[in-house]
Amino acid sequence: MRRKVIAGNWKMNMLPNEAIALIEGLAPKVKNTKNDVIICVPFTDLFYSLLSVQGTNIKVGAQNMHFEESGAYTGEVSGKMLQSINVEYVIIGHSERRQYFAETDETVNKKVKAALKYNLKPIICVGETLEQREEGKAVDVITTQTRLALEGLKPEEMETITIAYEPIWAIGTGKTATSEDANNSIKAIREEVRKLYGDKIADEIIILYGGSVNSSNAKELFETSDIDGGLVGGASLKADEFAKIVNYDE
Ligand code: 13P
Repeated sequence: MRRKVIAGNWKMNMLPNEAIALIEGLAPKVKNTKNDVIICVPFTDLFYSLLSVQGTNIKVGAQNMHFEESGAYTGEVSGKMLQSINVEYVIIGHSERRQYFAETDETVNKKVKAALKYNLKPIICVGETLEQREEGKAVDVITTQTRLALEGLKPEEMETITIAYEPIWAIGTGKTATSEDANNSIKAIREEVRKLYGDKIADEIIILYGGSVNSSNAKELFETSDIDGGLVGGASLKADEFAKIVNYDE
């Protein structure tokens, strides 16, 4: 049985005082869950968040990183820097980074490799646009993104990889994929992993759904055969709402 993972992606929200208050509100509400709880916070909140989660079951991730270790890359933060303050997870290749910051399958792959080098656990995002979906290309797009993101990874490196399927048309729009649709897309991603790495890794890899997840639709989504939890944007910014999603199975 794969465990369930509920990860919040705060995006460009929350000042340090707000981050601390949210974590203090969230921690007691999720302390009894058997599900993994992760919050992926802006760089400026990382240090405060890492201090605030001490003694709780909440884990902390970043939302991006550069693939080089150091150098003349003004404004960037490296995997080595994240590792130095004990960040555990990092989101890589979110559609907003692909769309607004020109990230490509190639840079995503470089970042995944750099993250692994510094013992960070990548949460790799894949997902199709509405246009690609309407043209019947969704499965091709997401399986190709998956294959290219993982290119060159050794089987043992797959252990710490999480994939998040986030259809772009469902992000921040209030439109969720139906649980059946999302489950089928995630099955296709899992089959791609099976082709590349075999049964054991395919059956064990955690694949999340993201796109307008909230406390009303979480249970239906997460109880399908292949959806192993969620990458939650807007609904992760309120402790009560995010806790309800984490505790969807209570
Ligand atoms: P929303 O939950 O706000 O739709 O965002 C999803 C997302 O992009 C998480 O990474």
